[in-house]
Amino acid sequence: MGSRIWICLLLVSVQILLVAAQTNNDYIALFALKDVWQNAPPNWVGSDPCGSSWDGIRTLASVGLVGQLSGEIELLSELQALDLSYNKGLTGSLPPSIGKLKKLTNLILVGCGFSGPIPDTIGSLQQLRILSLNSNSFTGNIPPAIGNLSKLYWLDLADNKLEGPIPVSPGLDMLVNTKHFHFGKNNLSGEIPSKLFSSKMTLIHVLFESNSLWGSIPSTLGLVHTLEVLRLDRNLLIGPVPSNLNNLVHVQELFLSNNRLTGPLPNLTGMTLLNYVDMSNNTFDVSYFPPWFSTLKSLTTLMMESTQLQGSIPVTLFSLPQLQTVVLRTNQLNGTLDVGSSYSEQLRLIDLQNNLVVSIGDFAKIANGKIKIILARNPVCEETGVTEAYCTIQQPNSSYTTLPDNCTPVMCSSNQISSPHCRCAYPYHGTLFFRAPSFSDLGNSGIYTSLAESMMTFFRSHQLSVDSVYLSNPTKNADDYLVLSVEFFPYGEDRFNRTGISGIGFVFSNQTFKPNNVTFGPYFFIGDLYEYFAAAIGGSVLVLLSLLAGIYAFRQKRRAEIADKQNNPFASWEQNKRSGDVPHLKGARSFSFEELKKYANNFSEGNVIGAGGYGKVYRGALPTGQLVAVKRAQQGSMQGGHEFKTEIELLSRVHHKNVVSLLGFCFEKVEHMLVYEYIPNGTLKESLSGKTGIRLDWMRRLRIALGVARGLQYLHELANPPIIHRDIKSNNILLDERLNAKVSDFGLSKLMGDVEKGHVTTQVKGTMGYMDPEYYMTQQLTEKSDVYSFGVLMLELVTARQPIEKGKYIVREVKLKMDKTQVRYNLHDLLDPTILDLTLGGLDKFVDLAMKCVEDAGAERPTMGEVVNEIENIMRIAGLNPNADSASTSASHEVDSRGYNHPYSDDSLFVYSGAFPPSKLEPQ
Ligand SMILES: *[C@@H]1O[C@H](CO)[C@@H](O)[C@H](O)[C@H]1NC(C)=O
Ligand SMILES: *[C@@H]1O[C@H](CO)[C@@H](O)[C@H](O)[C@H]1NC(C)=O
Ligand SMILES: *[C@@H]1O[C@H](CO)[C@@H](O)[C@H](O)[C@H]1NC(C)=O
Ligand SMILES: *[C@@H]1O[C@H](CO)[C@@H](O)[C@H](O)[C@H]1NC(C)=O
Ligand SMILES: *[C@@H]1O[C@H](CO)[C@@H](O)[C@H](O)[C@H]1NC(C)=O
Ligand SMILES: *[C@@H]1O[C@H](CO)[C@@H](O)[C@H](O)[C@H]1NC(C)=O
Ligand SMILES: *[C@@H]1O[C@H](CO)[C@@H](O)[C@H](O)[C@H]1NC(C)=O
Repeated sequence: MGSRIWICLLLVSVQILLVAAQTNNDYIALFALKDVWQNAPPNWVGSDPCGSSWDGIRTLASVGLVGQLSGEIELLSELQALDLSYNKGLTGSLPPSIGKLKKLTNLILVGCGFSGPIPDTIGSLQQLRILSLNSNSFTGNIPPAIGNLSKLYWLDLADNKLEGPIPVSPGLDMLVNTKHFHFGKNNLSGEIPSKLFSSKMTLIHVLFESNSLWGSIPSTLGLVHTLEVLRLDRNLLIGPVPSNLNNLVHVQELFLSNNRLTGPLPNLTGMTLLNYVDMSNNTFDVSYFPPWFSTLKSLTTLMMESTQLQGSIPVTLFSLPQLQTVVLRTNQLNGTLDVGSSYSEQLRLIDLQNNLVVSIGDFAKIANGKIKIILARNPVCEETGVTEAYCTIQQPNSSYTTLPDNCTPVMCSSNQISSPHCRCAYPYHGTLFFRAPSFSDLGNSGIYTSLAESMMTFFRSHQLSVDSVYLSNPTKNADDYLVLSVEFFPYGEDRFNRTGISGIGFVFSNQTFKPNNVTFGPYFFIGDLYEYFAAAIGGSVLVLLSLLAGIYAFRQKRRAEIADKQNNPFASWEQNKRSGDVPHLKGARSFSFEELKKYANNFSEGNVIGAGGYGKVYRGALPTGQLVAVKRAQQGSMQGGHEFKTEIELLSRVHHKNVVSLLGFCFEKVEHMLVYEYIPNGTLKESLSGKTGIRLDWMRRLRIALGVARGLQYLHELANPPIIHRDIKSNNILLDERLNAKVSDFGLSKLMGDVEKGHVTTQVKGTMGYMDPEYYMTQQLTEKSDVYSFGVLMLELVTARQPIEKGKYIVREVKLKMDKTQVRYNLHDLLDPTILDLTLGGLDKFVDLAMKCVEDAGAERPTMGEVVNEIENIMRIAGLNPNADSASTSASHEVDSRGYNHPYSDDSLFVYSGAFPPSKLEPQ
């Protein structure tokens, strides 16, 4: 009762702090915490923690917690289960006071950032059943006190930096009720203590792989009859394998590979449940291929690389009904490779590289390509002139992705993905690691279908609102784990709330979900950060959290004149800057003025590569040798300040081949600079006008159009939130050394973030000639405004004329001249003379598309996605592969001898910013 009051007080104190937070900007991040508390799974946390429904379970998986566990955690002494998995931002050490949470049954901290030693006090958590500390950075020894946890069922310490010996008496030998010892991927050393195992043990999984354990395998291991999975591979074990190993008749997966084991080849007779055997890379005595392999009826996989086998392979091996993979590389196996006539239906790979096989039976024909056979570096392949497929080294390819469920996948915007049920949603992504699967044929889709089905059945029976599961990309990693990418789609909504995410996370971290199929063996799951919560706090959730106890030790001394946000576009940054947190920009770094001055050769005139109303652009080189273009705003002028800020914020979030990359910026009192990747071939406008000497033939123009279209498609459909560029024109398209088009100059761009109706009402800005007439009139900006500008750009590509030239508007000119019944639509007079005499494959369709893009009504214009598809079509008509790289040879040699090839001349700030009609204005 006493502790219950504590929790109430504690929650009250959280509320108080949150109130404090609201009045003090330093605590803004804590709003998020309030949210977390409110969103904690209702069935696991009583809605009224002070009332009777409080069941003391706290799970906050994958919700983006950042901070450290405070020693005050001891106040939560009623807590029964604590799961903070998949919060990589949770760092620091586990406070020893965790030992005071006497009621804890589950302590699950999978895939966080914890470091330091595991405190001894963990031994006093007498109720503990599940202790999962895997995939952190814990150091030091395994505390012997863990042996006190007599109720422990699951002990997972894998994938940390633990060292020293496995502790016994006192130590882990006392854990007679524990089923799982998962200690792989640490730096444990010393011998595997023979005391660790006894007939009292009830272990089913012993996973010690990838450590530095040495000495010999203790014969006491043979006493643990319950064992099902044994991984001792990737250690420094020596000596003979104890002969009683084959007492372990329940073992299904056995890994002894990559040690220094000697003595006779282990005799596995009688271990009839074995599915997967890997004894590769040991120095066993030279022996004939043992006949008893052919008695292991369940065998799917036999890995015996470099194990001193000789003689021939008995044909009976291949008739084991489940057999999928036989790897016998680097032995002295000789004779003829013969699989007989009743070989396993499931057989996929026989790898006999580097043996003495002299011939191959004629089953190669029967097998019909289903079995990959590798006999490279065998006498049968060493004869000159042998060109058989089995003499080359090729692994079977095994790809899998969940197929859509009888529906057509839809195109989704921003970070949404089309679910297996073809609905757009924000999936929760994570990775499943299977530490000892019983199969090796990763290409068998039935396995994954059955896994996804068993997950869905589980989710339904546990009332988790998951609509569907998308599994993809199964691979084996260097540790021989099967790695499988998984995405969970929300049911009924387009995104999960915290309850949903933590619920799914817990199902895996607590191992509550068991694949209904034994084939998968022990697994763990690592969830990615999920940022799209229904109750949005905003982009990235930064919960500064000295967790749970709610004691916020961080206090920042904040004495600042808060700049007036209205007048100074950088005000919000200035504030952040003081707290050491210049904007949350992932891609771009902040440079100091002094640095950039050095890189750009003191901003000397010789380095100027462009100039405009905004200021000058200089060429520079980073210490890494990377060339950069530094755009420097005119000193003292805050003109363009908003543009400057917009551009940084946008560009640092977008990354696409056809969008210029922002590398960084300088943001000091009077200096505002942007640092871009250096694009050597200048703007499209210059190339079209012949200024750069680059010859733009029709093929190159098509590629440039495709590049720009893809860049825009990315901005409209994949960037989150979507971005409208607002100033697409040939002067803002840069060409790199392979003539890839890159969209640049985001000064006028707009986010579609909080827009509901698909448009934003803004002051009209843009460049004459390219601007969408509908946008002038309504002031409503949509993606279709960019489509219009792109249409104008397409006309520019075929005519090489500026949109408004000598008072004539290109769109109108083409409309007037165009006659679809004539060759080349009767546009000869308007076409760029330099391409006139080429075969202009697809020209008609190109002009058609351009005209669609410049339709008066935005609704009638295609989307950029549709534009991309159509240009790809046109390219195929013109005989080009739209997915090949741009100019197949470097174009830079075509730059003229004046070297005037990088002007970055920035006249983008000549913008129309006023009343309609624009025709009264001078063209640019
Ligand atoms: C979270 O989502 C689930 C399912 O969509 C819903 O039942 C539950 O009420 C939501 N919880 C909160 C706190 O919004
Ligand atoms: C836990 O184990 C240590 C040594 O392993 C022992 O000294 C200690 O008394 C034990 N504590 C409890 C609570 O059993
Ligand atoms: C392997 O063990 C079985 C049973 O324990 C025995 O019958 C057989 O002779 C052994 N084989 C070898 C090659 O030692
Ligand atoms: C055996 O050792 C070689 C060389 O280190 C390695 O490339 C190979 O993957 C190992 N084989 C197995 C099955 O682990
Ligand atoms: C295969 O190798 C064994 C052992 O080296 C040898 O006794 C046998 O004669 C060889 N067989 C063939 C067909 O070369
Ligand atoms: C287990 O997986 C295999 C895939 O090889 C499948 O054929 C079998 O039906 C699955 N078993 C169950 C119970 O789903
Ligand atoms: C966590 O897993 C354990 C052991 O599998 C199980 O007994 C327990 O019910 C699970 N906890 C919850 C809250 O599901």
